[in-house]
Amino acid sequence: MSDRLEIRYIPITQAVLWDRNPKEHDIGKLVTSIWRHGFKDPPHYDGALEAFDYGNGRTTALIAGLAAGRHIPKGCFESDGEIMMPVTFGVDADSKAAAEAFAIDHNNLTMLGGDFMQYEISKMWVEEEYVAMLKGLADADELPVSVDGDDLDALLRDVMVEDETPGEDAEAKVDQAEELRKKWQVELGQLWELGEHRLICGDCTDAAVVERVMAGDSANLCFTSPPYSEQRKKQYGGLHEDDYWTWFDMVQDSIKGALDVTGHFVLNIKPHTRMGQRSLYVFDLVLSMVRKRGWRFVDEFCWLRTGVPGQVIKSFKNAFEPCYWFALSDEFLWYPRQVMHHSESVPLPLGPGAGSNSWADRQGQGGGAILSNLIMPGLAYPSNVLDFKNNAEALGHPAAFPLQLPSFFVKCMTQDGGVLFDPFVGSGTTLIACENLSRRCRAIEISPAYVAVALQRWADTTGGTPKLISNNGEVTRG
Ligand SMILES: C[S@@+](CC[C@H](N)C(=O)[O-])C[C@H]1O[C@@H](n2cnc3c(N)ncnc32)[C@H](O)[C@@H]1O
Repeated sequence: MSDRLEIRYIPITQAVLWDRNPKEHDIGKLVTSIWRHGFKDPPHYDGALEAFDYGNGRTTALIAGLAAGRHIPKGCFESDGEIMMPVTFGVDADSKAAAEAFAIDHNNLTMLGGDFMQYEISKMWVEEEYVAMLKGLADADELPVSVDGDDLDALLRDVMVEDETPGEDAEAKVDQAEELRKKWQVELGQLWELGEHRLICGDCTDAAVVERVMAGDSANLCFTSPPYSEQRKKQYGGLHEDDYWTWFDMVQDSIKGALDVTGHFVLNIKPHTRMGQRSLYVFDLVLSMVRKRGWRFVDEFCWLRTGVPGQVIKSFKNAFEPCYWFALSDEFLWYPRQVMHHSESVPLPLGPGAGSNSWADRQGQGGGAILSNLIMPGLAYPSNVLDFKNNAEALGHPAAFPLQLPSFFVKCMTQDGGVLFDPFVGSGTTLIACENLSRRCRAIEISPAYVAVALQRWADTTGGTPKLISNNGEVTRG
């Protein structure tokens, strides 16, 4: 092993690319750069890695450009029928892990002088592989200089692709709501602190209630499911659809007051059917929100849920619900990579056939390279159909959505430490999603019994003790 660097020319066929390299490359741009400026930044071969620790993208681009019939670029030459490329040798790492850590630093350190967050830096990488590699390096005590343990923890929470298991959750004991209300002595007007979250028992159309629970925070996302018109009169009343708009106008005021200007409002609501036809009040509501109240209607999600079998009279069982996605402006911030998932059907970004019309390019990763040995894993963005069928209602609990539903929107529309507002938190599902994803929930619920259910659910999930907060901000219980 040499402590000095040396540049040697080797046949391009002997280039050894690092097969675990999780770096994303824009091969097209690299090709353009090489043929404009020359191949004058030689890759480095590391003996411990037994491959190039940097220069993999440039080498891939060089091979791709030549395979596409381009002439030999400056910096390379032909000898005895072989195309020769420059490679730097020497100063090998002490171990394979150390070589991998250097390879990561070699890219990341150029970003650290700027104002980039770890999450943004991680976008240079195929994220799941990057995080898996960092975990391996942490175990080997070889974390790169550019990533510390806290960064890795945050990345593990934020960057990993959609996980089928949405995290810890204790049972929402809706059937014991009244007992729990007595146990926690919940009353209207109380503000509770649950770790990083706040839950107030009150009416979300009351500006003072909203102000107290937000305490100066702005929400990145409001995700909520309000009581539907004419539904569940026993559990929490039921507004007639003619009165719904007036009431919902006040709800919107509260939501607008709590949201950051870059934030989102995702509304889960489904109109009922009556006398053989579906009510149109939700459609009116959505139209008015856009036309009268100035919301930007970004899109509509279709949540596929387990339909509760009923008597088929003039319609079939309800097996989906819409989630309407609004924003205050087109400046909204979102993080779609946080909800990517594995997909066998996405053509491999740098695999055979990945060209400018491929799915890989449409997914934003295609480089247009044509080499069959450069295989990357298939990751796909979700569609606007969300298949989360384990809704609690199917198991007998009223109106609770499955943990995956708020978890999806929380990941997609907030970052680590971000704030979610749920003005109709019910049994506390969004609060648990925030707990698992290290976001902060600001929640309102008018029913003391449901507040108690949410308190118990959070306590059972985390082992923590909810604290009752007085008007002057002191902890009076817990
Ligand atoms: C459809 S449920 C929400 C269920 C919730 N997503 C869950 O996972 O349990 C609507 C909730 O809003 C509550 N609610 C109704 N009117 C309210 C108001 N004005 N302010 C706050 N909460 C209200 C109801 O008590 C009910 O728990």
